[in-house]
Amino acid sequence: MSADERFVGNAFLQVEILVSAPCRESLLEILWELETLGCEETEGSEGVRLTAFFPASDETGRLRRQILSRCKEQGWEPLQLSQKLIHFSPQEWLDRYSESVKAFAVGDSFFIYPSWGDPSPAHPVNVLLDPGHAFGTGTHESTQLCLLALESTVPGVSTLLDVGTGSGILTIAAQKLNPLLSVLAFDIDLLAVEAARVNFLKNRIDGPNLFVGELGAVASQFDLVVANLTAVIIQELASEISRLARKYVIVAGFTGEQGPFVLDSLKEDFELLQTLSRNGWLCYKLRSWRES
Ligand SMILES: C[S@@+](CC[C@H](N)C(=O)[O-])C[C@H]1O[C@@H](n2cnc3c(N)ncnc32)[C@H](O)[C@@H]1O
Repeated sequence: MSADERFVGNAFLQVEILVSAPCRESLLEILWELETLGCEETEGSEGVRLTAFFPASDETGRLRRQILSRCKEQGWEPLQLSQKLIHFSPQEWLDRYSESVKAFAVGDSFFIYPSWGDPSPAHPVNVLLDPGHAFGTGTHESTQLCLLALESTVPGVSTLLDVGTGSGILTIAAQKLNPLLSVLAFDIDLLAVEAARVNFLKNRIDGPNLFVGELGAVASQFDLVVANLTAVIIQELASEISRLARKYVIVAGFTGEQGPFVLDSLKEDFELLQTLSRNGWLCYKLRSWRES
């Protein structure tokens, strides 16, 4: 649903939350889950300040309680949280919303842009993505590292399994980079799969197969398995990943401290080819020992 479709009246609840930098992504997920209309972000010495907008409701205290309890569930608390009622005209709101979501390039190949922006003629692969409820707008380091690893790997493979596709961003980018690639994408989250389906349509790709479910349901092997999850989930899925990856594995979603544990879980079947890192986040590209 676009910002204008969700616009009701001209009153909004503006919630300003200050968090330490490592909590930023978790907070963004919480705000999208609570159906924010849009977020703005500024980074300073004291942390990251997220300003999120919600439709004004009669019971403004409920939202504050929901945000605080979700943060607590994740094991942290905001440094500050304040909220106020503000007024925008519909046009002011749309201008502000559009301004907060910018297009950006990843590597030499990929350009991620929102529906109100323009694709880039300078990049071979343009991915149209609007902010939504599924993870994978491309702004997170782990997604960008996966895109960089895909850029050098996808041209040399025929089949790809995208584990935890979220918004579908990695599948869309890979499929557009190599239109002959055969892709299977899935997620345990139905909402993510619905979002990915919409994004495939918006990007005019109909090649990838998509399902809601678990890795255990996948039977055939793939040249490349990409999994941007968490350190714990990758370790849990390591034997399944080994079963399904014929040549390469790209894993991300973990920090420098967690890296050795992830590597340990995959090292019996794969050798480490490349480590990519950005702002403390890591991505490994590995190759099956059978291929070396
Ligand atoms: C960090 S997001 C990655 C989204 C996207 N692939 C990207 O790179 O931006 C992780 C996704 O994995 C999904 N997920 C978590 N555990 C999973 C599992 N065991 N099997 C499949 N998907 C899983 C989540 O629902 C979420 O959509």
